[in-house]
Amino acid sequence: MTILSDQLHLHPDQLGAYWMPFTSNRQFKAAPRMIVQGEGMYYTDADGRKVLDGFSGLWCCNAGHCPKPIVEAIQKQAAVLDYCAAFQMSHPLAFELANRIVEIGPKGLGHVFYANSGSEAVDTALKIALAYQRVKGEASRTRLIGRERGYHGVGFGGISVGGMVANRKMFGAMLAGVDHLPHTHNLAKNAYTKGIPEHGVELADELERLVALHDASTIAAVIVEPMAGSTGVLLPPKGYLKRLREITKKHGILLIFDEVITAYGRMGGAFASQVFDVVPDMITFAKGITSGTVPMGGVLVSDEIHDAFMVGPPGAVEFFHGYTYSAHPLACAAGIATLQHYKDEDLFARGAKMGPVMENAVHSLKGTKHVIDLRNYGLVGAVELESRPGAPGARAFDVYLKCWEKGVVLRTAGDTVAIAPSLIVKEDEIGRIVTTLREAILETA
Ligand SMILES: Cc1ncc(COP(=O)(O)O)c(C=O)c1O
Repeated sequence: MTILSDQLHLHPDQLGAYWMPFTSNRQFKAAPRMIVQGEGMYYTDADGRKVLDGFSGLWCCNAGHCPKPIVEAIQKQAAVLDYCAAFQMSHPLAFELANRIVEIGPKGLGHVFYANSGSEAVDTALKIALAYQRVKGEASRTRLIGRERGYHGVGFGGISVGGMVANRKMFGAMLAGVDHLPHTHNLAKNAYTKGIPEHGVELADELERLVALHDASTIAAVIVEPMAGSTGVLLPPKGYLKRLREITKKHGILLIFDEVITAYGRMGGAFASQVFDVVPDMITFAKGITSGTVPMGGVLVSDEIHDAFMVGPPGAVEFFHGYTYSAHPLACAAGIATLQHYKDEDLFARGAKMGPVMENAVHSLKGTKHVIDLRNYGLVGAVELESRPGAPGARAFDVYLKCWEKGVVLRTAGDTVAIAPSLIVKEDEIGRIVTTLREAILETA
């Protein structure tokens, strides 16, 4: 059997077996974008071409590709303890990492439940919410509230509270008892805003309408992304998250922030919750916790929720949930090394310092043909293009392909092109990303 590292150019016949996720498989297999190496800000493709990664992998390689201290920690751990049963047993790294996550998180969120991805983290948080309401004697609170244009991964819980039609319409009725807040994207009022948009705080009051419709006694939790990433970088209007926090608190409803993208430096701090100064009851995380090196996700849980479960006979399992690979030793070793690396290199501050560079670069695209909005926050930029009639997403995907040909990788969400480089990005690399993007847009019909 041939392994990939021996054979960089696969024959078209060898591409059929792998059914690729969230990918136009036939388009890819006709002209593969095959990556064989990563280092710092760059991928190397199968032709030996260096490609600037303007998207941190998939919002995850916050420390760049293959940072030495993280790679070494993983290598060392693989030779010491490959795996240890996750149920009724554990290993010290699981506790050390949890302590470190809690240490940099918002005050009052003192416990970590591990999963292996963002989707699992979301489903875990939703299950904790339902179970918590039950253990504290409010079993009628079974309803979950998400938001239109939200993305919470691909589990049945995540797509139920999520608000992306393509991710939902094929999959039947999903979870029962879910409702949605309206999304906060308002081009008419907020187009070309630098940073947080001015208009839309009142959209949080829609939660009062849902409470009036369903009654608070039936609602367990609200889940939102502080910044919706996968649906095109939609920022929270000024005051919106605080208002949501006030309304959820008033009605005894839990608030979950899905920080799978926004945690670990993307918004200029460890968690968006701290950057926006709003503390939810739970935070889901993944991606940046290991800088994308080993799959890991988790939920940061409030002391109040955690403590409510720690009752009953001492030998009883308190929460019937978990994964074979919860707190996998390689992921924990990677997580500890990653958090240490962020600290040693002061990467959250570095990312924050690059925020204004990103803002200026992205907003320099104003007036470019097809562009109808520009958005930014922290180390995230977004360029929204006018959709071609009857072909949503097609124009941005053409731009994405042109950028790839020119040696830059970005990501599209509908007709928005998103930029989210690693926290190690340099000013001239942000410049190159935006220059390439401008050229690609100008060459696109
Ligand atoms: C906010 C949010 N939640 C959940 C997920 C799902 O994460 P995963 O793909 O690791 O399951 C993502 C992925 O991008 C995300 O952005």
